[in-house]
Amino acid sequence: MKKNKFSKNWIIQQKRDIFYKQSKIQGYRSRSAFKLIEINKKFKFIKSKSHLLDLGAFPGGWSQVASKLITAGKILSVDIKEMNKLEKVTFMKGNIDDGNFCKKIHKYFDKKIDVVISDMAANTTGNKSLDSHRSGQLCINAMNLAKEILKKDGVFLSKTFMGSSFFEVQENAKKYFEKVALYKPLASKSESKELYIFCRGISIL
Ligand SMILES: C[S@@+](CC[C@H](N)C(=O)[O-])C[C@H]1O[C@@H](n2cnc3c(N)ncnc32)[C@H](O)[C@@H]1O
Repeated sequence: MKKNKFSKNWIIQQKRDIFYKQSKIQGYRSRSAFKLIEINKKFKFIKSKSHLLDLGAFPGGWSQVASKLITAGKILSVDIKEMNKLEKVTFMKGNIDDGNFCKKIHKYFDKKIDVVISDMAANTTGNKSLDSHRSGQLCINAMNLAKEILKKDGVFLSKTFMGSSFFEVQENAKKYFEKVALYKPLASKSESKELYIFCRGISIL
């Protein structure tokens, strides 16, 4: 469909651009920052003393949001890509599918933590169902790490996708956590299969 000033697509795209423009104005490294800001406004889970792990952190928008909210807790950000330094944030480069790397994450905190956030997404191949399946698997891996490292009342927030892994993601979440909610923030593109799963309270200890 041709996009003109009156088409629905045009209006939607303009709204989307607001987040991009705001990220530039406010100095965020990604428009994704606004997703975390909105989700945290809703669930109020990042506290000034939180110890927080940010999975798939590059380029660092979510870590920036966390570092503004956390004044007396530790923030560890990880990604397979190198990330530019951020004040109050420790960065470790590695793949969370690698068990040895996960041991390093545990060692860094050396105790159970309050929050695990994951915005991980697999590199796109062009095959949408394969891409959403691979990204769903990343969510499952992040959840497995989260249930080991989180305190009893800890919070796990992760990007997930409406795809072949979605059922497994939801089932695992219900098994491991006391409260589970799905949320699609405004900054998440409406045509994207992406949504966020919010889990609070470990139920298997
Ligand atoms: C959408 S980006 C994250 C954006 C980030 N939350 C922000 O606000 O700037 C997804 C990231 O997940 C990372 N990623 C994908 N698979 C990963 C894995 N197995 N381990 C660690 N990071 C991974 C990618 O390298 C990519 O940088």
